[in-house]
Amino acid sequence: MTDTLHLGQTLSFSGNPFDDGPDAAHHERRGGVLVHDGRISDTGSADHLRRTHPKATVVDHGDGLILPGFVDAHAHYPQTGIIASWGKRLIDWLNSYTFPEEMRFGDPDYAAEVAGRYLDLLLEHGTTSVCSYCTIHPESVDALFTAAAARGMRVFAGKTCMDRDTAPEGLRDTAQSAYDDSKALLTRWHGQGRAEYVITPRFSPTSTPEQLRALGALWAEHPDCLMQTHLSEQTDEIAWVKSLYPQARDYLDTYEAHGLLGGRGLYGHAIHLEPRERDRLREVDAALIHCPTSNTFIGSGLFDMDGLMKDGHRVGLATDTGGGSSFSMLRSMAAAYEIGQLRGRALHPSELLWLATTGAARALRAEDRIGNLAAGLEADFTVLNLASTKGIAQRSARADDIWEALFPTIMMGDDRAITTTVVAGHTVHKRADAN
Ligand code: GUN
Ligand code: ZN
Repeated sequence: MTDTLHLGQTLSFSGNPFDDGPDAAHHERRGGVLVHDGRISDTGSADHLRRTHPKATVVDHGDGLILPGFVDAHAHYPQTGIIASWGKRLIDWLNSYTFPEEMRFGDPDYAAEVAGRYLDLLLEHGTTSVCSYCTIHPESVDALFTAAAARGMRVFAGKTCMDRDTAPEGLRDTAQSAYDDSKALLTRWHGQGRAEYVITPRFSPTSTPEQLRALGALWAEHPDCLMQTHLSEQTDEIAWVKSLYPQARDYLDTYEAHGLLGGRGLYGHAIHLEPRERDRLREVDAALIHCPTSNTFIGSGLFDMDGLMKDGHRVGLATDTGGGSSFSMLRSMAAAYEIGQLRGRALHPSELLWLATTGAARALRAEDRIGNLAAGLEADFTVLNLASTKGIAQRSARADDIWEALFPTIMMGDDRAITTTVVAGHTVHKRADAN
């Protein structure tokens, strides 16, 4: 198998910029990524790689910036068609827009059509991996993993479980069927190619304690799997949880009491946390997933990035499509920056980029496979044009360093900035105007 050498500017991480500062990132003005059999086999300066691998096929991205493919650590692919739906807060938004749309995913043809459209949108936005909720229908899980396999993508996903009458009829399973269907899907998909099954109780308000317990038992039987759910997104939701689980110490306790708190747990939003919840999440080293465009769009609140990172929490970044208002991890970085500003902490571009790549991969316990440009990792990367619009170009033209050159694209960029996306060594997206 011949090697392919991608040349351009490169940015990679040797550490976490929240701990080590921007020097945790390594920039090559003229660098390269060598790909062999779907994996990165070497990185470094273009001159060195050309010299040491003279037979490699060269793909020159010019001034383009080669980055690890973005990793979206929390999304709902079935909500693709209802993104940007107006005027509601969380519970009304779920009932008005989300649940009626999710009912359609019992139809395997519809699920397949949306899954394909969604993953193509991700690739056009530079996102190469996602951790997605599906719907209660097993067909919706098959559709996403099938579409991901067709594109070669590492995708994390699971059947969303809801058995309480707080969810509408037609969108409910039972404690037993949730266990059985999740187990069957896990057996079918987990570890098949790049598929990773994620045990997925939607959130405490739509599950009975029996269902949470059944899924906790399934997780105990498969401790290598991730588990994803929602936690403390809106204050109304927290009050609702209190009324449904009067004996619980707090929202997290509704999961903890049923075997759903652990280091491979992903807790979406996690905005309005009690001190006990923060301590427990830290103790078990669970992942908190920040969904900034969703948190502003649905009006949920301001995630405490600075405090949580200082306390040593494991944090990843996500779109939360379609509660989030964009498919783009660039837009998600921009929103994370804006929320940081509202809380008095300007996140550095190296921190934003880390959250969208290595940090998100680390949240998914997959940093040994994705989320960075390093030998041995899977060859998932994206190439950015740092002058994709007139407004961005005139600003990046006066940049003195890579961070000043990149920040305008983080703040103002969209899919036009993504010239090429490579998945497992294959070019799966190329803009018509890319060089
Ligand atoms: N909480 C429970 N379900 C959802 C969902 O689909 N989106 C968001 N943003 N929050 C939720
Ligand atoms: Zn969500």
